[in-house]
Amino acid sequence: MISALIEYFMDPLIALVGVFSLLAFFAGIASWAFSSFFEEVNQKRGRYLSESKRDELKEEYVLHSKLFYQASFLIAFVLISGLIVFYNIKGTPMQSHVLEWLNLLVRWTHIIFGILWIGASFYFIFLENSLNRTHNVRDELAGDLWAVHGGGFYYLEKFKLAPKTLPKVLHWFKYEAYFTWITGFLLLVVVYYMNANLYLVDKSVMDIAESNAILISLGSLIIGWFIYDFLCKSPLVDNGPMFGLVGFGISVAFAWGYSQIFSPRAAYIHVGALLGTLMAGNVFFGIIPAQKELVAAAKEKRPIDPSLGKNAGRRSLHNNYITFPVLFIMISNHFPSTFGHTYNWLVLAGIAGASVIVRHYLNMHEQGKDMSYLLPVAMFAIIGLIVYTGPKMNVVESVEGQEIELVGFGEARQIVNTHCLGCHSKYPTDDQYKKAPKNQVFDTPEDIIKAKDIIKKQAVDSKIMPMGNKTNMTDEERQRLGMWIDQGAKLE
Ligand code: HEC
Repeated sequence: MISALIEYFMDPLIALVGVFSLLAFFAGIASWAFSSFFEEVNQKRGRYLSESKRDELKEEYVLHSKLFYQASFLIAFVLISGLIVFYNIKGTPMQSHVLEWLNLLVRWTHIIFGILWIGASFYFIFLENSLNRTHNVRDELAGDLWAVHGGGFYYLEKFKLAPKTLPKVLHWFKYEAYFTWITGFLLLVVVYYMNANLYLVDKSVMDIAESNAILISLGSLIIGWFIYDFLCKSPLVDNGPMFGLVGFGISVAFAWGYSQIFSPRAAYIHVGALLGTLMAGNVFFGIIPAQKELVAAAKEKRPIDPSLGKNAGRRSLHNNYITFPVLFIMISNHFPSTFGHTYNWLVLAGIAGASVIVRHYLNMHEQGKDMSYLLPVAMFAIIGLIVYTGPKMNVVESVEGQEIELVGFGEARQIVNTHCLGCHSKYPTDDQYKKAPKNQVFDTPEDIIKAKDIIKKQAVDSKIMPMGNKTNMTDEERQRLGMWIDQGAKLE
């Protein structure tokens, strides 16, 4: 029992989760103890405070310390129960089944938080761009806006500075961003770290140990943030277009680097994870602290440092431009002709560039500047990409009069049997997949012929199958399989 437990925690990932759950548990205990102490002190001190000040402190207390220890305990509870469940199902058919459900639940929450975050941020950009700033605007206002939605009329006002008295209830928008990042990171763990040999590492790209791949993945997110943050504090940030170009160049460099280390699919997701980390980091380290300072200054009626707001505004503008590429990357794994392309990082750069151009057009349009000529530019970029990523024909029945041998079905089936059936069968023999992924089975000749186009996409035009190239499929085998398909996929 003890030795089984020790062996279980020898797995680097499980050990890491174990450490995190302990940390969360202790953080929970510490902040709980601290907060009861804090409340005690508050109550004693409270005797000398005015009613409203006491309420205010109470509110702060409820919001911050309580939330913190509740969240810590929740995280500890989830992680520890996860460890216990996983201990009992590891290596059984339940493992991949439970992982699938975990994947589903985390992905679902991730999308919900992502929509909340991006929806709110797009809405505020729209507000900012569409405010009525001239007609009948009170002196203290930057502008106002009327809207009708869901069967009611809404009227909003934006203040130039802070209002004279702060309202009792002030809505913040930050947890959307934090939870999007947290669930996104969990998804990275569930999909890419827990099956690192299949999803993260591709031996034909780079033959590295799973734990090293995970370290590179984590390290790159941290380094990426520091590079970006450094740029944001450098004079470069004053020059918007230049900053955009440099940022774009560095992102492409990261994309190239990832494509040299990780599986094609993981390479894309990591660019998305990095950009998403920058966005959430902007909220956490840049925008929210500035807003807190803004509120504190308004409460204490001191002047507001304008550079804070400016800095926060810039970061939020960066987020605005990053959104479209990130959203593409999040759905990219459905599109093998993008991430599975030999120069997938270049394809990503093209798509990201086109989407940033569209974003720029929209921003300008909302501010009343017409830059419609940008749209055809983006469209031609996409058309160029469609052509560039087009399928290669392996057919060549004859080259300059020379007869080329035909690849027979026997050979093609042999290749599929060797490299695909382990997973894609009614009775998989693979150690990790106990049922055919995505219900794709290639057991019978009919199965193979029916799936020939998608097989070509996954294993010939791109090398994303076999997953993580687990069966070491060679380029020549891919080409022979492709020839059979392009020569008509005949049963002879
Ligand atoms: C080690 C297991 C494994 C092997 C071997 C394997 N696959 Fe897959 N395959 C998977 C997994 C896992 C998925 C689901 C990927 C996902 O989550 O998008 C998949 C998905 C697919 C899909 C469906 C893609 C989609 O988006 O609907 C096709 C087609 C496919 N594989 C073809 C092949 C072919 C062809 C081979 C052999 C050359 C092969 N696979 C070998 C694990 C494997």
